[in-house]
Amino acid sequence: MPGRSPKVVVHEVSVTFESHGRSATALDRISLQAGVGEFLCIVGPSGSGKSTLLRVLAGLVEPSGGQVRIEAEQPGTPLTAMVFQEHALLPWRTVRDNVTFGLENRGVARAEREARAREMLAMVGLTRCAQHYPHQLSGGMKQRVGIARALATDPEVLLMDEPLAALDAQTRTIMQEELLRIWAALGKTVIYVTHSLEEALLLGDRIVLLTARPGRVSQVYPVDLGRPRALEIRGSPAYGALLEKIWSQLREEVVRAMAEDRGGDA
Ligand SMILES: Nc1ncnc2c1ncn2[C@@H]1O[C@H](COP(=O)(O)OP(=O)(O)OP(=O)(O)O)[C@@H](O)[C@H]1O
Ligand SMILES: [Mg+2]
Repeated sequence: MPGRSPKVVVHEVSVTFESHGRSATALDRISLQAGVGEFLCIVGPSGSGKSTLLRVLAGLVEPSGGQVRIEAEQPGTPLTAMVFQEHALLPWRTVRDNVTFGLENRGVARAEREARAREMLAMVGLTRCAQHYPHQLSGGMKQRVGIARALATDPEVLLMDEPLAALDAQTRTIMQEELLRIWAALGKTVIYVTHSLEEALLLGDRIVLLTARPGRVSQVYPVDLGRPRALEIRGSPAYGALLEKIWSQLREEVVRAMAEDRGGDA
């Protein structure tokens, strides 16, 4: 995060869940920061607490310990908005009315809501689908609606939990480029969870690697691959070297997580 003032500060955050009379630690004293306008990627094995961390940032889960601070710059706007892996659209609402949903809840007047929806749908390339219903859209289009809906409330920080994971490879690639374009245009701080190191290397300013459960910060890798980035960076030696370095560490964590799921012996 060099040269940026902090936007999101996570300090020693722990989360413990109680289930079936046992308590399990999902996050163990996680500390990290995201700078203003930074694209921060979070990777880690399944169960390392990535979604839990986003839910803490969204205020949906109360940490058992530690603090989260998000620096608000614009009074009256929400601190965060979330984009989920499974777009989570309301099937009985049109695309436009899905996008305005968060604004209605915030009491924004109709004319302003509709203007904002038009602007956001133009940004994600869905102007012509405003009156469609979710079932009439492809997976990639639904995910664009989810992104437009999150951006419509102009949140201080955009939280994205594997937003492209359900898409086919081609659509995913196009959406990665779209995301980079939207992020560059809006200058939002983004915290982005992904299973894909390739995706994190294409999108992120830095990559935070979490350990197998309980999630701790294993390493933070700066992605010094320049901007703007396009798919072509995949051919560069710097990209290959960084991918290999992070993967060797992630691989260990994935193996550890799998061993633990099998019953403890690595
Ligand atoms: N509401 C809950 N109640 C009990 N345990 C939970 C709850 N939510 C998450 N957990 C547990 O916390 C741990 C972390 O879960 P989380 O969903 O954050 O992991 P993740 O890194 O997002 O995994 P994945 O990559 O599979 O999405 C897991 O062991 C999970 O079973
Ligand atoms: Mg998850």
